[in-house]
Amino acid sequence: MKFFIDTANLAQIKEAHEMGVLDGVTTNPSLMAKEGITGHDNIINHYKAICEITDGDVSAEVIATTYDEIVAEGLALAKLHERIVVKVPMIKDGIKAIKYFTSKGIKTNCTLVFSAGQALLAAKAGATYVSPFVGRLDDVSTDGIQLIEDIRLIFDNYGYETQILAASVRHPMHIIQCAKIGSDVITGPLSAIAALLKHPLTDTGLAQFLADYQKGANKA
Ligand code: E4P
Repeated sequence: MKFFIDTANLAQIKEAHEMGVLDGVTTNPSLMAKEGITGHDNIINHYKAICEITDGDVSAEVIATTYDEIVAEGLALAKLHERIVVKVPMIKDGIKAIKYFTSKGIKTNCTLVFSAGQALLAAKAGATYVSPFVGRLDDVSTDGIQLIEDIRLIFDNYGYETQILAASVRHPMHIIQCAKIGSDVITGPLSAIAALLKHPLTDTGLAQFLADYQKGANKA
């Protein structure tokens, strides 16, 4: 399963990359704003900076919501770097644009997906990735992980190559549940990925090993 980090924070992207487990980056306009990156030129430069750090796919989200504008904005984003994936919202014009980008060999990530039917449409349009938002569904008392399971079943039934990118992942259990189901990718904050490292028995076990080694060294 691929690990993407869901942030526009360059330090966190570097940290995940240096850990050796980073397969890509997802961003969205809110994550850019959170880092104080505003205005077209700054956002474009920020995408370039992210592409310099990771050697995986980098999702860059269009702001446009009509077909012609999504196509124009997406083409410009795709030209920035070979690893840019054009992130397109799940709306009618977005699906049409994904179909167009697919025909041109441009990678896409269909975002803001909250149902299996939406994921099916994205797959039919040829999206490279489809992003069901697990955490935001959980937030409204709907089982986000169940959606990943449903989409996995549907895609496997028909052999769709669209990758399931479980988004809005909030904590390590989401990551484990996605891995058990067979999600192709998860994207979440560094905190959720780093939390996978943690187990109290690892900490106490390591402390014991080091203490016993030291005892032996003191005797020698
Ligand atoms: C998806 O690509 C989005 O950027 C993201 O995962 C949304 O997560 P949130 O619900 O934690 O904002």
